[in-house]
Amino acid sequence: MKEIIIESKLNVYDNLEELPKEVVALMDQAAIARNNSYSPYSKFSVGAAILLDNNEIILGSNQENASYPSGLCAERTAIYYAGSQYPDAKIVRMAIIAGSKIHQTIHPIPPCGACRQAIAEYEVKQNSNIEIYFMGETGKVMRSHSLANLLPLIFDKAVL
Ligand code: THU
Repeated sequence: MKEIIIESKLNVYDNLEELPKEVVALMDQAAIARNNSYSPYSKFSVGAAILLDNNEIILGSNQENASYPSGLCAERTAIYYAGSQYPDAKIVRMAIIAGSKIHQTIHPIPPCGACRQAIAEYEVKQNSNIEIYFMGETGKVMRSHSLANLLPLIFDKAVL
C-alpha cells in the first residue's frame, strides 16, 4: 500500500477590486444572471457567466422545480446553453456568484459536485483549461486555474 496526496491550488482574492478588470466584468454579468434565479424553495440564488473564445458571454441561473430534483444549477444551465448554442467555441472562464436570500453569504461558494462533473466534460472536450472564479454575495473571491483542479480523479470519456 502506498499513500498518494492530491493537491489543489486556489488563489484567494480579498475582494473584487483585486481582480483583473475583465474578470470583474464577468462577475458583474454573473450577478445580473443571479437576478433571474428561480429559487422559491431553497431561497438560495446563484448566477453564472461564461466567457467563450468568440467573446460571447453566456449567462445562467439556478432554476428550481416543485419536483425538487428536476431543478438545475446555474453553472449547468449556463454551460449546457453554451454547448448547445456554440458547440465549437472554447470556454475561457466561468464566474459564479451565490447567496442565500435569508442570510448574507460572505464566503466563496464553489460549484457543486454535479456541476464540476458537467464542466469537466467540456474541459476534456476542448482540451484546454476552464478558469473558474467564485464568490458569495460579497467578500473574498476564489480562483481555480482549471476545473480539473477542483475535481481530482476526474471521470472522463477516455475510460468508456
Ligand atoms: N445551486 C447552484 O445553482 N449551483 C451550485 O453549484 C450549488 C447549488 C443551486 C441549486 C439549488 O437551486 C440551490 O442552489 C440550493 O441548492
